[in-house]
Amino acid sequence: MGVAFRVLQVFLVVVCCLARGFVSEPTEDKAALLDFLGRTRHGRRIQWNSSASPCEWRGVTCDANRNQVVALRLPGSGLVGPIPPNTLSRLSGLRVLSLRSNRLSGELPADLANLSLLRSLYLQRNRLSGELPAGVARLTRMLRMDLSANNFSGSIPFALSNLTRLTGLFLGNNNFSGSIPSIDIPGMVEFNVSNNRLNGSIPEPLQRFPASSFAGNLDLCGGPLPPCKNFFPSPAPSPGGEETPAQVPADRGKKKKLSTASIIAISVACGAVLLLALLLLLICLVLRRRRRREPAKSPKRASAIPRSGGGAAETATTSSSKDDIGGGRAGVEKNKLVFFENRLYGFDLEDLLRASAEVLGKGSMGTSYKAVLEDGMTVVVKRLKDVAVSKREYDVQMEALGKVKNDNVVPLRAFYYSKDEKLLVYDYFPAGSLSALLHGSRGSGRTPLDWDNRIRIALAAGRGLAYLHTVAKVVHGNVKASNVLLGGGDPDGGAVSDYGLAPLFGTAWPPTRAAAAAGYKAPEVAETRRPTFKSDVYSFGVLLLELLTGKAPNQASLGEEGIDLPRWVQSVVREEWTAEVFDVELMRYDNNNGDKEEEMVQVLQVAMACVQTVPDSRPDIQDVVRMLQEVLNRGATAAAAEEDDPSSKAGGASGGPSTPPAAATP
Ligand SMILES: *[C@@H]1O[C@H](CO)[C@@H](O)[C@H](O)[C@H]1NC(C)=O
Ligand SMILES: *[C@@H]1O[C@H](CO)[C@@H](O)[C@H](O)[C@H]1NC(C)=O
Ligand SMILES: *[C@@H]1O[C@H](CO)[C@@H](O)[C@H](O)[C@H]1NC(C)=O
Ligand SMILES: *[C@@H]1O[C@H](CO)[C@@H](O)[C@H](O)[C@H]1NC(C)=O
Ligand SMILES: *[C@@H]1O[C@H](CO)[C@@H](O)[C@H](O)[C@H]1NC(C)=O
Ligand SMILES: *[C@@H]1O[C@H](CO)[C@@H](O)[C@H](O)[C@H]1NC(C)=O
Ligand SMILES: *[C@@H]1O[C@H](CO)[C@@H](O)[C@H](O)[C@H]1NC(C)=O
Repeated sequence: MGVAFRVLQVFLVVVCCLARGFVSEPTEDKAALLDFLGRTRHGRRIQWNSSASPCEWRGVTCDANRNQVVALRLPGSGLVGPIPPNTLSRLSGLRVLSLRSNRLSGELPADLANLSLLRSLYLQRNRLSGELPAGVARLTRMLRMDLSANNFSGSIPFALSNLTRLTGLFLGNNNFSGSIPSIDIPGMVEFNVSNNRLNGSIPEPLQRFPASSFAGNLDLCGGPLPPCKNFFPSPAPSPGGEETPAQVPADRGKKKKLSTASIIAISVACGAVLLLALLLLLICLVLRRRRRREPAKSPKRASAIPRSGGGAAETATTSSSKDDIGGGRAGVEKNKLVFFENRLYGFDLEDLLRASAEVLGKGSMGTSYKAVLEDGMTVVVKRLKDVAVSKREYDVQMEALGKVKNDNVVPLRAFYYSKDEKLLVYDYFPAGSLSALLHGSRGSGRTPLDWDNRIRIALAAGRGLAYLHTVAKVVHGNVKASNVLLGGGDPDGGAVSDYGLAPLFGTAWPPTRAAAAAGYKAPEVAETRRPTFKSDVYSFGVLLLELLTGKAPNQASLGEEGIDLPRWVQSVVREEWTAEVFDVELMRYDNNNGDKEEEMVQVLQVAMACVQTVPDSRPDIQDVVRMLQEVLNRGATAAAAEEDDPSSKAGGASGGPSTPPAAATP
């Protein structure tokens, strides 16, 4: 995949250059790189040909226009000695710097802080020493910083808190001492300071990380490690000196000896709380009794033709064997198509069975048909397999689902239960599913789904899920691209379908044959067999990764056998942060626009937070929606700003709104 992408990139670049008639090259970056290599001892494998463009050099990656070096990767290249100052810091467009597994020593040059666009810094497994320069706080775009297995010493600077986009910080196997500063970065999902000489309490924002993140230190306590023994902060704050941020909240706030007065105060408070609780309980009981007296609201039942079961499905598929059904009006109350209030349709079960039906898809829970009724109306009929609950439980669940009303959720119109047949009736979405749009016959004249549409669809699906979680209190349980339908009440976005069905299958959930859904399932669901709000968030994260990478989560071609999409993305990202995870189609159509790539990176971060293994570390869906909305808003603001820029309008007076301004060629 990486090779294919490179080949494509090179091909595009060559085509671009031929079209323009000249070959540009980043001359300043070239000089900086030559300076760097000239002043660093290195192995024989790096042979940079100074008469060629640096974009051709081993380990060097340029942007699409070949105006700037964006990545320098020289892992295991036998680089020896200090990183010369005033060399790499001149690569002003650098996003990835990887010099891991060399023998670099000495201090980190302070001017590296000038690389303001740097997103990934991989310097692990070298012999770098000294303190971290305070200037690192200026690298605010940093996503992943790995300085592990060096000889850095001194304290970990609190200034790292400034790197608010960090997702991973690795400082293990160094010689850091002092206490850990209170680095509070909510998006950080990996953190490791093991095997240093740190002491003191682990600050609260970092207590979410496992014990192995802190192992092998001098004397750390609290959080995942045994609780701190001393009640008082041991180091007296040095006069005039700064307090270590870690100790302010952890040691000062709560840990004081209790005086008699405070004991009395606490007792009184406890009494008050107990009284309040009793009062609340009483109120609850009264309210509950009252509610029970009110008649339960039930959906309006439209008259429908009852069936005694058997063969309904076959008729749905063949639409000819209707008369085979052992009809009669037995079980009038029992078996009928139940419509929800205000969703009356001019059809009944008989119409449904008479409709011409076409298989839309076979899912893990049953088969979906598109049924065109005689009056031309189209609905989707889902025939459920292996329902494990009684009619009563089925009805209860369906009535809960029938209340769902949101533009981003596909409405359930009616349901049916008999011994042999369980049917659900949904609206038909002619635009199809996200899965079909994303993976359906690539390259054969299909319009590729561009980034703006992808993020809009993601946002719509997220909103639907957020509605299910917060308003309807329904776990979706089956979030995947084929259950995101396009169009509907939110024409720009889409809607989620097939929600809330897991309870119908009891312990048979998740169905083992559901290979297609497997890639979306949160790891814990295999054990608990019960989807939760958090497992929905996981599946949604996989969906985001699918939108970003263009890869189906169950796709066998992720490179390694048995690896799933989150693990695959993580492995690529861990190696080096590269655009290689992104869908080739996205890079081809949206790559001219640096803002888009920025948005993709941000969405990738959101997705990575969603696919955390530990359910509690995943964000709530409302937060996910908010973050996606922010990305979209920022994108819109940037686009508006660009439009306001008179230079981009030059010569474009006749161009309609559909013709984008030509890319500025410097
Ligand atoms: C260096 O690049 C130039 C021009 O691209 C080429 O002619 C020359 O053969 C290259 N030298 C080596 C040693 O590869
Ligand atoms: C780094 O940036 C500062 C100002 O931002 C500038 O004064 C300094 O010369 C720069 N250093 C290098 C090596 O570019
Ligand atoms: C933190 O980042 C901001 C930019 O986001 C920068 O202006 C500020 O100087 C940084 N703080 C430190 C201590 O470097
Ligand atoms: C690590 O750095 C310290 C100075 O900070 C130095 O004394 C020590 O020799 C270094 N250790 C190694 C293994 O390089
Ligand atoms: C760690 O740093 C101390 C000085 O702070 C030094 O004496 C010691 O040798 C260093 N340890 C290693 C393994 O370099
Ligand atoms: C941490 O260790 C340093 C010496 O390395 C000592 O001065 C300080 O009191 C220790 N702090 C705690 C909280 O134990
Ligand atoms: C932290 O690093 C140590 C040593 O490299 C490793 O053993 C440990 O598993 C890591 N912890 C986490 C949470 O990654």
